[in-house]
Amino acid sequence: MTEVSFLLNGAPVSARGPAARRLLDILRDDHGLTGAKPGCEIGRCGACLVWLDDQPVNACLVMAWQLAGRRVRTIESVAADSASAPVREALAACGAVQCGYCSAGQVMALTWLHEHRPDCGPAEASALAAGNLCRCGTAPGIARAIDRLFGAPGSEPPPAR
Ligand code: FES
Ligand code: FES
Repeated sequence: MTEVSFLLNGAPVSARGPAARRLLDILRDDHGLTGAKPGCEIGRCGACLVWLDDQPVNACLVMAWQLAGRRVRTIESVAADSASAPVREALAACGAVQCGYCSAGQVMALTWLHEHRPDCGPAEASALAAGNLCRCGTAPGIARAIDRLFGAPGSEPPPAR
């Protein structure tokens, strides 16, 4: 058993339990933050993406013992942040949402890229966001949103940041 303290969406929290307890379960079961979704649960789909010390990570692969003193941000915080507005608008405008199960992870990945790698271009953005899978039929819409955000030739200009 362990107890760790960390910052969750800017607020100090602590988690108790086995050291190998997953961050994904801590978020959903202890804090009711259900935006991060269990998908593959082996780090391959991005449905559970969060930011850990401002880096994107899959919450299904982060264990409780790794959280001490760290900063975690989830979609519940990022979606309320104006920094994610261009991404959310691009996904909606490009028809990139169907069931929505992958959407939180998509927003987390693309907002991180839009903030940290705004000039990377659509091909590199697509490659960097490739860890976020969609099981519905929205892959073409996600590709259009990436073009719009990262400025593919002939696409609409990127929304103002
Ligand atoms: S559920 Fe975590 S990467 Fe798929
Ligand atoms: S919209 Fe359904 S999994 Fe992506």
